[in-house]
Amino acid sequence: MLSCHRLILASLQLCLLLLVSFTDSRSLKCSPGKVCSDRPPVVLIPGDLGNQLEAKLDKPSVVHYICYKKTEDYFTLWLNLELLVPVAIDCWIDNMRLLYNHSTHLTEAPPGVDVRVPGFGQTYSLEYLDPSKRSVGMYYFTIVQALVDWGYTRDDDVRGAPYDWRKAPNENKEYFLRLQQMIEEMANKAGGPVVLIAHSMGNMYTLYFLNHQTQAWKDRYIKAYVSLGPPWAGVAKTLRVMATGDNNRIPVISPLKIRTQQRTAVSTVWLFPYAHTWPKDMVLVSTPNTSYTVQDYQRFFRDINYEDGWAMRQDTEPLVSALQPPGVPVHCLYGSGIPTPQGYNYTNFPDVDPTVINGDGDGTVNLLSATQCKRWMGQQKQPVNMFELPGNEHVAMLLNITTVNYIKKVLFSP
Ligand SMILES: *[C@@H]1O[C@H](CO)[C@@H](O)[C@H](O)[C@H]1NC(C)=O
Ligand SMILES: *[C@@H]1O[C@H](CO)[C@@H](O)[C@H](O)[C@H]1NC(C)=O
Ligand SMILES: *[C@@H]1O[C@H](CO)[C@@H](O)[C@H](O)[C@H]1NC(C)=O
Ligand SMILES: *[C@@H]1O[C@H](CO)[C@@H](O)[C@H](O)[C@H]1NC(C)=O
Repeated sequence: MLSCHRLILASLQLCLLLLVSFTDSRSLKCSPGKVCSDRPPVVLIPGDLGNQLEAKLDKPSVVHYICYKKTEDYFTLWLNLELLVPVAIDCWIDNMRLLYNHSTHLTEAPPGVDVRVPGFGQTYSLEYLDPSKRSVGMYYFTIVQALVDWGYTRDDDVRGAPYDWRKAPNENKEYFLRLQQMIEEMANKAGGPVVLIAHSMGNMYTLYFLNHQTQAWKDRYIKAYVSLGPPWAGVAKTLRVMATGDNNRIPVISPLKIRTQQRTAVSTVWLFPYAHTWPKDMVLVSTPNTSYTVQDYQRFFRDINYEDGWAMRQDTEPLVSALQPPGVPVHCLYGSGIPTPQGYNYTNFPDVDPTVINGDGDGTVNLLSATQCKRWMGQQKQPVNMFELPGNEHVAMLLNITTVNYIKKVLFSP
């Protein structure tokens, strides 16, 4: 079926004939009149902060007189560097934060703020985070451009699946339905199964998605799953984000200010290190009075005076903590050899920046966490391939030629 593409050049009719006669009823076929492809369609799933978000405002009040109270239309909320400068950032934080409701266990935007995810099914919102395409916001571009150079077409057989990454899967139910429909549509059109490529937290989303599909569905629709920089057991950095805020080394942003917004992102709490993998006695945070390990999150959230965080953790911890095998061929690529925070020492907890204790990883994801794909070897029939990328930083690995070549091999091998 996949070589049909070449035949089709000779004779469309012959090709259709071959398809009709050689495809059994269970496998995918090209619909009549459609060209079969020898390339598997590709779906890209981004990580935390990994696609654009837009907002439209009609707010009862604002935090500063320079902030917009009402906008006619949607504007780019992420990533727009102009909104992240002093003063303007206060408006941004007030639009970006979520409010947690204890009775529903759901978050919502503040009154009068409507946030939407642009570009589902397209690639632009994850190729560049900043619509002005400044290189600082470059994300999936290198991979998408390579695919295009190999014959793919943007928004047709390579498509993006952006989502509201402030939330965990329990609050993105509709996303998974759309993702499923898109995969089916692409597979049917191409006459063959799809390759999923996920980065960072997108892997937790992808695992959740695959864990909720039947094996028959996965056998039919998924050719392979390329997992880049996966935080299977969480990321130690999240504790600092929650405790103190993290300006990602952008000096004009005060960590304590941005903490207000960062604390309300449920997905950050979802990415706290997991006890299924983390050594139970490893200190994640130490202060002059006490220390916190994976077993002390309730106390941690109480001490930083953010008890919503503990409720969010309880809501989200079970979503993928079983690390149930995905049930599809997996290629797990992970960076190593970059100093990666694994613990923090505070002299003044939690408001003053701590001393960082580094371990191995990609600068964001701890090596211990990324390598957990290996537990699926032998737990599933489908192959699990591990591929270390020494010296690759968490986002830079998406731009590295070794990664791009690996993806090419996965796409074009039978
Ligand atoms: C939480 O949700 C419930 C049910 O929708 C609602 O009645 C209540 O007002 C909400 N609480 C807050 C603080 O918004
Ligand atoms: C830690 O010790 C300081 C100084 O002794 C005290 O002010 C603070 O309340 C203590 N914090 C906790 C969480 O016990
Ligand atoms: C961090 O604190 C612990 C004890 O609280 C101490 O043993 C360790 O040396 C400290 N590490 C750094 C890098 O300050
Ligand atoms: C790309 O990744 C390879 C394998 O980890 C590494 O050896 C190489 O230095 C990287 N290249 C760049 C430009 O970072």
